[in-house]
Amino acid sequence: MLGRNIISIADLSPIELTQVLDVSTWMKNNQVGPLLQGKTLALVFEKPSLRTRVSFEVAMQHLGGNTISLPSSEIQMGNREPVKDVARVLARMVDVIAARTHEHSTITTLGEYSSVPVINALSDLEHPCQSLADLLTLREHFGNLKGVKIAYIGEGNNVARSLAYASVMMGIDLTIACPDNYKLPDETMIYINNLQGEGSVSQTDDPHRAISDASAVYTDVWASMGYEHELELRRNIFRPYQLNSSLLSSAPSDILIMHDLPAHRGDEITEEIIESDYSIVFDQAENRMHAQQGLLALILSDFKF
Ligand code: CP
Ligand code: NVA
Repeated sequence: MLGRNIISIADLSPIELTQVLDVSTWMKNNQVGPLLQGKTLALVFEKPSLRTRVSFEVAMQHLGGNTISLPSSEIQMGNREPVKDVARVLARMVDVIAARTHEHSTITTLGEYSSVPVINALSDLEHPCQSLADLLTLREHFGNLKGVKIAYIGEGNNVARSLAYASVMMGIDLTIACPDNYKLPDETMIYINNLQGEGSVSQTDDPHRAISDASAVYTDVWASMGYEHELELRRNIFRPYQLNSSLLSSAPSDILIMHDLPAHRGDEITEEIIESDYSIVFDQAENRMHAQQGLLALILSDFKF
């Protein structure tokens, strides 16, 4: 049982991460019944969401549990009352909290003060639930994650950071292609190099080099939620990093296309590429639900199959 906070994907060991994927796959293919009957998940969102909110709600419904969604306009975390009070009040009434926050420090404070597990549903620094779904999707396509080569083209942001940690832990070789000022910082690369696992992460500013021998290429928005005011500036800087047919002419012809969504067609990816036969973006989106079912089951029960 993983009865603890999952704020970073690296809060799981490689063995636990594999266990989450195994349970998620099992639950994708089998009916589990009301495993979490009587359990309640609180969903706290400071930013918009489609996939994360729906996948958590449906995952809990499938497992027989309940959810309560708390948009920021409702609880005004840190404004109407301190984050640490929100954590302690929720923990008296629910069994698990998933939160999407602007500042990473908000989710760590929730985790520090809550006596029930807190799951990071996206912060400025990480998006661990997205990585769970991405790993599940990659495993479905390649059978095994060890030695799979992935190129991530875009900013060294929350999605890239969680994917980088997960890659090392699962034996994936990840190359991030990114303009110099937007790479994962040195301290993150040092942390990555000390993680347990056989994968690797390297960074380059050459997207053609990154995709030349990759089995899958991943991209994300150029301006994350909270940075939309920088979009015009970023459009100029990131233009050479667009996933388009010209860039993909440097890649193996069967390279799989990945995106966490929402996608901005014409910015980080073209319509042609996201709609191509090699795009697995909607498998990723669906797998958010299956991966979170596995995660919730392991956090809230002693489920074994
Ligand atoms: N990929 C993802 O987290 O989507 P939402 O922002 O819609 O939840
Ligand atoms: N990097 C993006 C991911 C959205 C799911 C953001 O933070 O907005």
